[in-house]
Formats: sequence, C-alpha cells, structure tokens
Amino acid sequence: MIEYRPLRIALLGAGSVGAQVARLLTENKAELAARVGAELELVGILVRDTAAARPAGFPSELITTDADALILGADIVIEVMGGIEPARTYILQALNSGSDVITANKALLATHGTELFDTAEQVGAQLYFEAAVAAAIPIIRPLRESLAGDKVTRVMGIVNGSTNYILDRMDTDGISLDAAMVEATNLGYLEADPTLDVEGYDAAQKAAILAYLAFHTEVPIEKVHREGITQITPELMAAAKRDGNVIKLLAIAERIDADKYGEEGVSVRVYPTLIPRTHPLGSVRGAFNAVFVEAESAGQLMFYGAGAGGTQTASAILGDLVSAAKRHVAGGPGLADSVHANLPVLPIDRIYTRYQITLEANDQPGVLATIANIFAANEVSIEFVEQYPSPGRNTANLEVGTHEATEAALSAVVRALEASSAVDTITSVIRLEGI
Ligand code: HSE
Repeated sequence: MIEYRPLRIALLGAGSVGAQVARLLTENKAELAARVGAELELVGILVRDTAAARPAGFPSELITTDADALILGADIVIEVMGGIEPARTYILQALNSGSDVITANKALLATHGTELFDTAEQVGAQLYFEAAVAAAIPIIRPLRESLAGDKVTRVMGIVNGSTNYILDRMDTDGISLDAAMVEATNLGYLEADPTLDVEGYDAAQKAAILAYLAFHTEVPIEKVHREGITQITPELMAAAKRDGNVIKLLAIAERIDADKYGEEGVSVRVYPTLIPRTHPLGSVRGAFNAVFVEAESAGQLMFYGAGAGGTQTASAILGDLVSAAKRHVAGGPGLADSVHANLPVLPIDRIYTRYQITLEANDQPGVLATIANIFAANEVSIEFVEQYPSPGRNTANLEVGTHEATEAALSAVVRALEASSAVDTITSVIRLEGI
C-alpha cells in the first residue's frame, strides 16, 4: 500500500552503471513502490557531458549539470560517477543536507571512508555501499548485518574479476600473462588503467572495505599489503597444477589472534597465492568473484557471482535503494557503522604464512644440506622438498614448501638463498593459503 509521499531520487553519473540504474528505476517503478510503500521518483541525472551518446530508452529529459540543485532537492542520492572528486564533495553535501547516500565508489570509500561514515553518523543519515565490493554479490550486508552477532575470523576473496580471468586462462590453456591480458582487454574486463587490476590496487581497496566491516576497525589503504599478478608465469602455473594447486589473486582480511601473535590485530593483504584446487575458491573460474568468510559460530560461508557489470552493479544499488527508502518511510536516524574494535593493522612482516620456493640448485654433494641449513638458521620449518629433472642444465630443480613462519623469517630465507653459492637461480617464490 502506498501511503507515503514520493521519494526524490538523484542519480550522479550516467555511465554503464548509472544507465542501468535509471532503466531499472523506470521499468520497475510500480514493483519498487509496492515494496517500499512510496514511489521512487528519479528527479535528475547529473552528467559531465550533456552531449554524450546514451543508450536507447535513457531518460535524457532528466539530465542536468546543476549538482547543487539536484543534490539539495533529493531524499536519496545515488553516486555512480566514480573517482575521488567531485564525488566526495557531492556525497558530503548530500549527507550534510540529511539525504541518505548510496555509492558504488570503492576507491572513495577506501581512501575517505572514515570522513564519509563520520559525517553520516553525525547527521543521522546513512551511507549504503553494497555495490562497492563484488557488484551483485551480497557481501556488505551479510558482514554488516547477518554476521553482526558473530566473530568473523577471516575473509578471503577473489574480488577482481579481470585478474581472475587472466589467471584462469593461464591455468587452463598455459598461455602467457600478456596473451591473457589481451583477451581480458578485448572482453572489456580491465579498468581503463589496467595497473589498477593487475597490480592489485582495485582488490586492495575492496580488501580495506571488507576488513573494516568484518573487524569493526578502520583500515587505511596504505596499511593494506599489496602485490599484483605481473610476476606470474606459465611455468609457475604449470607447477601449481602439477601439485594440485591453482594460483589466485586473493584479498585476505584476517583477525590476528593474541595467543599466536602476542597481541590482537588485523592483517589485510592482497597477493597472488597458491590455493588447493579443492578449496571452494579454487573452483572460481573466468571473471567471476567469490568471497569466502570464516566466522566462529557460522563456520565457513561462500558468496559467489558476478563481481562487475552494469546490470549486476545496478542490482546491488537498487537493493540499497529499497533499504534506504524503507528507512525513510519508517523514519529514524541511520544506523552507524562502528569502528569500536579499532584493532591495530599489523605489517606484513609479522604475519604467518607459508612459502613455496622453486630454485635451480647446483647439482653437487652437500647442496641439499646447505639449503636445509638456511631454512633452519632462520627458524623456518620445511614441509616438503621435491626434486625434478632440469633437462640440459647442470642443476637440480627443487621445490621447497614451508610450514607456517613469519613473513620476516621467510623473506630472510629467500635473501640467504639468493646469496648462497649452492643456489644457481631462484625461479619463483609464492605463498600458499587455504589449507
Ligand atoms: N576492474 C574490476 C574487476 C571491476 O576486474 O573486477 C569491478 O570492480
């Protein structure tokens, strides 16, 4: 039953996501009104370029360049323009005028989230951002609400679709990183600046947002350890396959346990890593995303689906819009996201991980003992050593897997191996997660 006045919706941005939001708001107007109890009236669409081509059916009559008038006259503002400025200024303006805001802007949340959340809390408005991480996959609301009574211990996500596509193509057909990147570019998967994807910046922004929600802790983007996929070779892929593993770019947010680390904290990191093919994340193919959550009482949960795309991102935005509109109809202030735990974010050096190191060792008596001693001297325990033939070379191809050790100790091992006359070449160093 419609009992409330129409709610005025402002849309900032008319790119691939904005166009889909406008379409869904128009096509599903009656259904949305019935769900909310009020009509959702799209009152204007802010664009930079009024002359740009728009898809068929786009409500061009709503286009405006007058940001102040649009924002100040709205009940709910949807920001899908991307970038830091002017998006930040517009969102602050909307919140300060009492509007709820829905944003898909991961870069803005990862860099200015605290300012935006604090402003929302001060004025009793609410900031919604389901679309900022993994598009259509519901992961923000589960962390923010469904798991709010549990203690999340770890979140591991494949949150960048283009790099997952690239790694999957390398794994499946043994093609090079460059060839897989060309395919991903042709399919339109990569950002305009591909380094955002392949160097892990996009995943790091999403990791900071997930960690913030999972651990009620502010995570400055500079404290997210980040490595990209550019060092991954077909040889490394083949070795992973031989061992029953697969390489994925993982965003990991982990709660640090005082028993093991001597203090409570969180670790937030992004890097390419081996995981067993049998791990639920090991079966995530193509450009799909998935987030694997572990919580004390809930156990293991997996959220899977399309992590990008105009309609998929618009789906998450419309979900937030219905929530925001219902809250408007019901009345009451926005629900603040608390950073009450405010745990320290530990540097990567202190984190316990496992390494798998492949190297060419000089094929002489005593070489294995020398290498084993390097691990022992740094208090790193070896889990397995495999030796493979090195055709045409006077060296032995060794693959050494370690037990858990701190990153500092593991890095010291790699440095000592590099300096050792027993070692001809270190071919690869990669972590192993998910076991
Ligand atoms: N470049 C991103 C990806 C798009 O590849 O997943 C969604 O943020």
